[in-house]
Amino acid sequence: MMEDLSLHIMDIVTNSVRAGAKHVSIAIEKDEKTSMMRLEISDDGHGMDADMAMKVQDPFFSTKTGRKVGLGIPLLKGTAETTGGSFSLRSTKGVGTSIRATFDSRHPDLPPLGNIRDTFFVLIVSHPEVDFDLRYAADGKDFLLDTAEWRNELEGVPLNHPEVIGFLSKYLDEHL
Ligand SMILES: Nc1ncnc2c1ncn2[C@@H]1O[C@H](COP(=O)(O)OP(=O)(O)OP(=O)(O)O)[C@@H](O)[C@H]1O
Ligand SMILES: [Mg+2]
Repeated sequence: MMEDLSLHIMDIVTNSVRAGAKHVSIAIEKDEKTSMMRLEISDDGHGMDADMAMKVQDPFFSTKTGRKVGLGIPLLKGTAETTGGSFSLRSTKGVGTSIRATFDSRHPDLPPLGNIRDTFFVLIVSHPEVDFDLRYAADGKDFLLDTAEWRNELEGVPLNHPEVIGFLSKYLDEHL
């Protein structure tokens, strides 16, 4: 199991970026009544056919050269399923991939969420060409950020321009 859920998010989004995604949406939502957490990550990358989508859920499969074991997806699936939640992966070749995991936030073995502010920050800044549609709704917060909107406002100034990074950093500090 990974140390915290943020690391799972990093891994799954790295897969999306590697698949050529231009748009990635991440939603983390907690239902305070049932205490179930939902994590959903969708991308418009090159996707997978049905056979591949099944195989990647198996820890002994990876397409990365020089390595036989891909762990990102099986690890997230394992964390979800052993903490009273569920996992599903839907993918269509040429269209994109969507991964949904739920967790019971009361389960004693559930890793902490980790630093979601830093996770969002690093993702945006290290992939300035990707549009991120981010949602975090838990623990009294309801955070939404769509970097496509920022991109429009910025009129060609990249999202990793030093001044934009400074602004983004403050924005995340204030809202997350
Ligand atoms: N969003 C995605 N779009 C297209 N293919 C994907 C996507 N996510 C995963 N894959 C495919 O599934 C494989 C397994 O992914 P997984 O994250 O489990 O392992 P990995 O990325 O290969 O290695 P690791 O995450 O352990 O560094 C990837 O190598 C890739 O071929
Ligand atoms: Mg991976």
